[in-house]
Amino acid sequence: MMNRSILTVVMIGLLVWSCADTAQAAADREKLLKDPGVYGSFAVFKIDGDWWRLDKTTRGSAAAEVKAIFQKHADTVTADTYLLRGLSEKADFFVRVHSMEMLNNQNFLVDLMGTTFGKYIQNTDTFNGITKMANYVPAFPDVLKEAMKTPPDPGPKSYVIVVPIRKDAEWWITAQDGRGTMMKEHADATVTYLKTVKRKLYHSSGLDDLDFITYFETAKLDDFNNLVIGLQRVNENHHNKQFGSPTLLGTIHSLDDILEIFSR
Ligand code: HEM
Repeated sequence: MMNRSILTVVMIGLLVWSCADTAQAAADREKLLKDPGVYGSFAVFKIDGDWWRLDKTTRGSAAAEVKAIFQKHADTVTADTYLLRGLSEKADFFVRVHSMEMLNNQNFLVDLMGTTFGKYIQNTDTFNGITKMANYVPAFPDVLKEAMKTPPDPGPKSYVIVVPIRKDAEWWITAQDGRGTMMKEHADATVTYLKTVKRKLYHSSGLDDLDFITYFETAKLDDFNNLVIGLQRVNENHHNKQFGSPTLLGTIHSLDDILEIFSR
């Protein structure tokens, strides 16, 4: 009788501990996705033809190895996975990694590339950047500032788009006021799309050959297409020396989904 009570207490304790652990992991993830000063790495991969010729069991155990690497680094990085295969001839998937130290992103990616699966993938592109506080929004008129706070509609956003951007020298030598005026025009052109397009900006100057990595999630690619057409009409666009090249268009999938697709 006594033993059973002890067992029950231990079981409840373990349950509470595991719930607290999950809640902590979710909070850490939320923080990494929101805070400034977080390092983001986008690693893009193409799978070799040889992978698809391996038998299903070998691919299954290689997938389990990949899952273990994600779990091993879960305390230091959050890693999101995206499928490009079918929508791109150049790459099959990419991983977006966030952490408080670029070193953690590197350690995770090196481990991923060291797996059996890693031997069958080529790293076609990597973009690195850091999140920052808004530079121009604080000087926007109140109405626009408020509009920028509009949360995206709830519900799944199946598509991801990543556009690397490099500005020209003229942009960087333009005074803050002048850039602010152009960024206000930029923001004005986006207001219609705030509910359907979710965005995140990474600053890359000096950390990559780029100045910005722009990241978007949406369920409405037609809206995204119109949004970009609108942005190409504003003055700030004259200063985009590189826009895309490559643009990544894919779908958002959990790691389990991605691994299932690659081990079919
Ligand atoms: C709903 C869609 C969008 C909204 C609401 C939006 C809004 C904004 C705002 C408010 C800023 C200024 C941030 C700051 O104060 O530092 C900004 C910066 C920026 N946006 Fe957008 N944007 C959107 C879409 C896009 C798209 C589609 C692109 C290009 C593919 C883009 C490229 C950029 C870049 C490169 C910057 C950084 C400019 C700089 O700091 O010099 N944005 N965006």
